[in-house]
This record gives sequence, structure tokens and C-alpha cells, in this order.
Amino acid sequence: MFPDGVAGCRGSPRTLASHLPGMAHASVMTPIQDDAPSGRATDSGNAASTAEVRAMFDTIARVYDPLNLVISAFQEPRWRKRAVALSGARPGDRILDVATGTGKVAADLHARVQPGGSVLGVDISPAMIRIARRQFGDRAGLSYVVGDALTLPTEDGTFDAATIAFGLRNLPDYGKGFAELARSVRPGGRVVCLEIARPRSRVARILQFWFDKIVPIVGRVAGQGGAYGYLVRSVRGYPGPDRIAEIMREVGFEDVVWVGMSGGIVTLHTGTVPKS
Ligand SMILES: C[S@@+](CC[C@H](N)C(=O)[O-])C[C@H]1O[C@@H](n2cnc3c(N)ncnc32)[C@H](O)[C@@H]1O
Repeated sequence: MFPDGVAGCRGSPRTLASHLPGMAHASVMTPIQDDAPSGRATDSGNAASTAEVRAMFDTIARVYDPLNLVISAFQEPRWRKRAVALSGARPGDRILDVATGTGKVAADLHARVQPGGSVLGVDISPAMIRIARRQFGDRAGLSYVVGDALTLPTEDGTFDAATIAFGLRNLPDYGKGFAELARSVRPGGRVVCLEIARPRSRVARILQFWFDKIVPIVGRVAGQGGAYGYLVRSVRGYPGPDRIAEIMREVGFEDVVWVGMSGGIVTLHTGTVPKS
């Protein structure tokens, strides 16, 4: 849980850096990059352009996985497993993972749909896709392509389910993102959205402290202060779970429900593409 994570990461940021692969030379003196997107958002989308977001993820691709583990206080694998389970993916299925990043959700889905299934991971950042291919690209039936969540390179209704993990928050139009997922999935198929949220419970304040204060430090240690400042700001701007559920219903999903994990620091929304 997060409180354990906070305790486990005490010590100077320099000590932390020494535990992160590829960051041994990162310094706490690394200046904050102010060219990162603002992270501002409305109820319907992130204010940043897709080009700005792509450039930022291209820059952080190399450090993304180890930093993700640290800033999630090592909870990310658990969240990912839950998202994959909620997709309902079964052997033989064809699954789409949008904003796939370095490809881990897609790889987990791929394991779940064997034998005979396939997974397509799509991401706007060529650098992220390169890493995904390097890590998992040799698995038959698992492919990664560069593409935009708002104009997916997919045929209508050709996937049994789709996931988007920590991707929706970055889109300039959440409704369009969900509409593209709905278009790509067959009637009766499920869409799962895993995203960081602003927890509301009192106990969750410690999680919020971790996120607001520690995450930017971790980002600076890794030489990516701008991007990880954006992460915190974009979570502040992201709508609450009820609004995300409302957008899903507006797009036409049925059976929309959401659940929080780790004290509400992340939420999982699911919805089903209508049969008629
Ligand atoms: C925080 S990462 C999440 C990556 C991965 N899903 C995970 O769980 O680790 C967000 C990803 O969204 C991608 N992304 C942002 N905007 C996008 C868009 N318009 N279309 C496709 N991918 C996008 C970024 O390139 C980045 O890889």
C-alpha cells in the first residue's frame, strides 16, 4: 500500500536514484524542464495538444518503467493485473490496448488470451513503441503500432475487448477516446479504463502527499522534472470518476461501473459496447 511505500522510500533522492536502472548519473540538481504541457484540463479533455504529449512521452520513454514502479509505490503491477482481469479476455480473443506505452498491459493481456489469441498495442509515442517491441515484440500474436487514440488504426468491431491504462488523462477529448474504443470493440465486448484519481477519503491524504510532493522529486532525480510535474498537474485537472462514467454513458456504453483501488488513488472504469 502507499503508506508502506512512503516509508520504504525515505532517504535522500540521490539514494533513490541509485536504485533506478539507467539513472545512476541523475542528479538532484537537474533543473526542472518548464517546456512540459501545463496539465490543465476541462471536464472533456486535457488542454495539451497531442503533439506536446507525444514529445513529452518520447523524452521520458527510457526511464518510464522504473519510475512508474517507484511513483506507484510498487502498486502498478497489482493495478495492471486487475485491469487485465476486468477486461474479461479469454483464450482465443483479440484485444486492443490503447496508449500502450512500453507494452506491459498488452503483454499481460497476450498471456491471458493464449492459446490462439492476439493483442494489438497502440501508442502515439514512437519511443514508447520501440521499447514495447524490444521487450515483448518477439511473441507471436502480440504487435505494437504507433497511432493516435483519437483516430485509431482499427477496423470497426474487430476486438473482443479494449483497455486503456493511464492514457485517457492525456487525451484532448476523453469522449472521442472512448468513442474510438467503442467503435473498435464488437457489440457485447468490454472496455476498461485504468487511471490515476484524486482520492476523497481522509486516509487517502497520505497518498495524496506522496503523489503531490514526492513524485515531482522522483521525476527531478531522474532528470525528468517537467514531465513528472505534468503528471501531478494532469491528475489535478482530471475529472472525478462520476464524470468519467457519465462520459462513457454519453458515448453509448452500457453497464458502466467504476471501482477504486489503493484508497482511491486509481480508478477502474468498465463499460460494455451495446449489442444493438
Ligand atoms: C502514462 S503512459 C501509460 C502507458 C501504459 N499504458 C502503462 O500502463 O504503463 C501514457 C501513454 O499514453 C500515450 N498517449 C498519450 N496520448 C496519446 C494519444 N493521443 N494516442 C495514443 N497514445 C497516447 C503516451 O505516449 C504514453 O505512452
